[in-house]
Amino acid sequence: MRMVVLGLGYLGATHAACMAELGHEVLGIEVIPEKRAQLAAGEVPFYEPGLPELLRRHIDSGTLRVSDSYAEAADFADVFFIAVGTPQKKGEYSADLTFVDAAVEELVPLLSRDALILGKSTVPVGTTERLSERVDDLAKDVKVEIAWNPEFLREGYAINDTLHPDRVVLGAFGGGRAEETCREIYQKIIDENTPFLLTDPPTAELVKTSANAFLATKISFINAIAEVCEAAGADVKAIADAIGYDARIGRRFLNAGLGFGGGCLPKDIRAFMARAGELGAAEALSFLREVDNVNMRRRTRMVEVAREVCGGTLLGKRIAILGAAFKPESDDVRDSPALNVAGQIQLQGASVSVYDPRAMENSRRQFPTLDYATSAIEACEAADAVLVLTEWDEFLRLQPSDISPVVRNKNIVDGRLCLNAAAWKKDGWSYRG
Ligand SMILES: NC(=O)c1ccc[n+]([C@@H]2O[C@H](COP(=O)([O-])OP(=O)(O)OC[C@H]3O[C@@H](n4cnc5c(N)ncnc54)[C@H](O)[C@@H]3O)[C@@H](O)[C@H]2O)c1
Repeated sequence: MRMVVLGLGYLGATHAACMAELGHEVLGIEVIPEKRAQLAAGEVPFYEPGLPELLRRHIDSGTLRVSDSYAEAADFADVFFIAVGTPQKKGEYSADLTFVDAAVEELVPLLSRDALILGKSTVPVGTTERLSERVDDLAKDVKVEIAWNPEFLREGYAINDTLHPDRVVLGAFGGGRAEETCREIYQKIIDENTPFLLTDPPTAELVKTSANAFLATKISFINAIAEVCEAAGADVKAIADAIGYDARIGRRFLNAGLGFGGGCLPKDIRAFMARAGELGAAEALSFLREVDNVNMRRRTRMVEVAREVCGGTLLGKRIAILGAAFKPESDDVRDSPALNVAGQIQLQGASVSVYDPRAMENSRRQFPTLDYATSAIEACEAADAVLVLTEWDEFLRLQPSDISPVVRNKNIVDGRLCLNAAAWKKDGWSYRG
């Protein structure tokens, strides 16, 4: 089937390449010229394992093309995925839907035959209904249906999550061709016995925001327990292991540490709270404010721990920060806890040297005033404390003997509880988790 993907960021570029992999003919539309040029040349402008190979293969074969022309898009297909960003509004909790609205406003007047728009971006409940009215106003003598088909992929596993998702959710108004078309698009996926859940649009929108709210809550729950553990001298990792054996609880997303960040969870729980407030249901989600608070408190606590291990002040100290991406296997530094901590430590008078295996370019762009090293060992040179803030494999493999010769003081802070504490202590390091 022919289809268009509007917006070629983390979600859209992956979706476009994966749709080509499923055998479809895909045209991707991207507004940023540099991104477009890279993608058209078969290069991925961000780090996502496996995506460069997949993208190149489909660009080379011509099953995936890239353009900036909405006229070309309207001419090319009658199925359109919206994959543009929905960031947090500046100074507000709610989602900024400017990009989603702009895509619809630009596309629909150009359509000269009946079409289906499938939203993949994460949007507040009620968006499909609002856009549906707008689409009716904008469509010229054609029937344009809009439905929401939220995306659950995780960065770092995006291809597998797109090609083999846990479920496909479609929120459609009914009476149109959304269900039939989606079943055709995702036939190979559905044939693997992947659940296909057909709902109305508000339910589909809420499935996505509820999933993210639950995951954020799970992380903040264990981090709240970690605060109590710190006060009581208990071991939060052992608690997570023990409660995680209970199938009703489960061990995943119970890793205490520096908390969540990135381009989704923080802004999605805030947008969810804002939307619930608009709907008069603010009280129902008041606990999410605490989820957010617990999460942000982890960052402040990490700075305090760094200060403590440096003898009570960060002034004039050298701090090595290992990790900048919001999680491993990604170069995404949007709302990165690691960079937030690095920035706060620098503001308290320390010199900070940051190293990340993949996120250096994005970090430099976002925090140009931090110092960056070209390797973990270089970052640790003359350090008074080494902070591991993203659990990259490279840092898990790091041996105390690799950096002992270069640091000034053997202080290590494990912000993700991912290191072998005993090994570091055995080598004479002071270890804080
Ligand atoms: N990144 C993820 O892991 C992930 C997972 C699930 C859902 N989502 C959701 O998907 C959406 C996109 O997220 P992302 O991380 O890919 O963001 P992103 O910022 O990486 O990508 C968005 C892209 O859309 C482009 N764009 C903006 N306006 C456009 C327009 N009018 N026409 C064409 N292109 C346009 C931007 O230039 C950008 O390249 C968000 O709603 C996000 O919450 C993201």
